[in-house]
Amino acid sequence: MTLYNRHQPVLLQETLDLLACAPGQCVVDATVGYGGHGFEICKRLGEKGVFIGIDRDEEAVKCAWTVLHTFPCRVEILHGNFARMDELVWGLEIEQVDGILYDTGVSSAQLDQPERGFSFVDAPLDMRMSQSDSETAADLLAHISEEDLARVLREYADERRSRSIARAIVSRRLSHPIRTTGELRALVHRCYGGRSHLHGIDTATRTFLAVRIALNRELENLKVGLEKGWKLLRPGGKLVTISFHSGEHRIIKEFIRRRLGRCICPPGMPKCGCGARVEAELLIHGTVTPGPAEAAANPRSRSAQLRGIRRVEG
Ligand SMILES: C[S@@+](CC[C@H](N)C(=O)[O-])C[C@H]1O[C@@H](n2cnc3c(N)ncnc32)[C@H](O)[C@@H]1O
Repeated sequence: MTLYNRHQPVLLQETLDLLACAPGQCVVDATVGYGGHGFEICKRLGEKGVFIGIDRDEEAVKCAWTVLHTFPCRVEILHGNFARMDELVWGLEIEQVDGILYDTGVSSAQLDQPERGFSFVDAPLDMRMSQSDSETAADLLAHISEEDLARVLREYADERRSRSIARAIVSRRLSHPIRTTGELRALVHRCYGGRSHLHGIDTATRTFLAVRIALNRELENLKVGLEKGWKLLRPGGKLVTISFHSGEHRIIKEFIRRRLGRCICPPGMPKCGCGARVEAELLIHGTVTPGPAEAAANPRSRSAQLRGIRRVEG
């Protein structure tokens, strides 16, 4: 099985329905991954269209190029962080775009390569989305303070044993650096009194998720990346998101609320400071989630939420 067909695009038809790509349009796939959504988008853009795929992961970029470069539209595949989407797109001498898709998190191909360190298979504790970043998860765990680590575990993954896991990691690294996924997993299991599973879920799952999100600054990048994308979107253009984690859902909901002109300032503020202004309308009310057939065929899709807005003249 190739990397390309290891990843099944999530909510594919629903995403295409929201984006409603048409010939001649310019569409950014901010997380092109292995080109699953990109393939169907490119099909719809015709000869005069432009497809811009961005990914932080060098391997994904190579794979997306292989999968997409033969389409007749102009295909640009860029290695970079969508938090710099405006510079990346302007660098192609393109000012505005008709659609942007963010399909956040990691791909199945990343999760399924043990050497990337995202999974429980014993391997170096890497977890970098971009191989050109210098810090790995092992490096992060070697220097993060106990307090910050406990906060990361609690805030990013609702880990109820955040304090004891953070304490165990910090005390362990005094005598032995944590270098492998197996070491981290075993250490978390010990914090759960030797239990490897609770309610059918590995007790290290939340720790792995939180460390990955912190290392790759996933939530910070999403916040900035949505703003950068908005700057590029022409009136009538669509911004569509697929998110998997409660922290991502919250950031996207707040972004959408502000664009709909709904203030998100904390209650009691004398004056609105969040910049809410009517600049968008909803493409759908609420969210679309995978149906039972998709969830059964692709269990990783289960937490996905699809949202979309259209830019109006503001
Ligand atoms: C869920 S996968 C996308 C899969 C893709 N839609 C497909 O069908 O093949 C998420 C991708 O986003 C990339 N990614 C995550 N955060 C990113 C960021 N800030 N900038 C660019 N790419 C990012 C990851 O490297 C990964 O390849």
